[in-house]
Amino acid sequence: WYATVHSSRGMPWRKPYDNTLGADERAQRAYEVWVSEVMLQQTQVATVIPYYNAWMKKFPTISHLAESSVDQVNALWKGLGYYSRASRLLSGAQKAVKDYQGRLPDNAKEMEANIPGIGRYSAGAICSIAYGERVPVLDGNVHRLFSRFLALHALPKSKATLDVLWAAATAMVVEDVVPSHTTPSTSEAGNDCRPVDHPGDVNQALIELGSTVCKIRDPSCTICPLNSWCGAYNETRKKSLPDIEDL
Ligand code: ADE
Repeated sequence: WYATVHSSRGMPWRKPYDNTLGADERAQRAYEVWVSEVMLQQTQVATVIPYYNAWMKKFPTISHLAESSVDQVNALWKGLGYYSRASRLLSGAQKAVKDYQGRLPDNAKEMEANIPGIGRYSAGAICSIAYGERVPVLDGNVHRLFSRFLALHALPKSKATLDVLWAAATAMVVEDVVPSHTTPSTSEAGNDCRPVDHPGDVNQALIELGSTVCKIRDPSCTICPLNSWCGAYNETRKKSLPDIEDL
């Protein structure tokens, strides 16, 4: 679904995963994904695109960003709101330059522990998309998608619920259990479990499906590629059928 329908949608930070890139190029991608993820935290894609392009023009690398000032980053952020996001990017860049030769760490654990402002979600997004690490993402979109898919009926913010959802998100990027028609050579009969090749694409597909199809209100269930397996969809369909006693 993601590969055929939605892979770019005009987002300049979305590029096909390329495992031939060298360490510097991957670190540059990590910087780009980081900026986009921070901008997207409270803002729609269409609003973010021009801000992202202006930011990259002014601060093309993490070192350029680290050398700038709070006033400069705030000036570029004008109109986006939630200005603390801009200063978090600046302090993260300064730390990356000071301790990591200007590269974001290449694994989510180290990134989350050492770069200020990067939490579990952002570390997962950046490391899966830019570095190809098999780490999950759980943002509001993926939370809603899995809660419905699994028909959880549970308190959304409880620790037990979050543990279940992070585990589901992890399962998605660790082992690919779905036989894929796009990669027949690696999926032989009886051997359908294999490590996921492009965890960043899996994660972006989940985010994309959650934000464009499995929407908060009025989800587009009839066009959802997951509808036949979706717990919530099947429950609501059952409810709208006449009771068996009434037939
Ligand atoms: N929102 C947050 N991260 C995103 C991404 N990588 N693609 C689209 N929308 C997003």
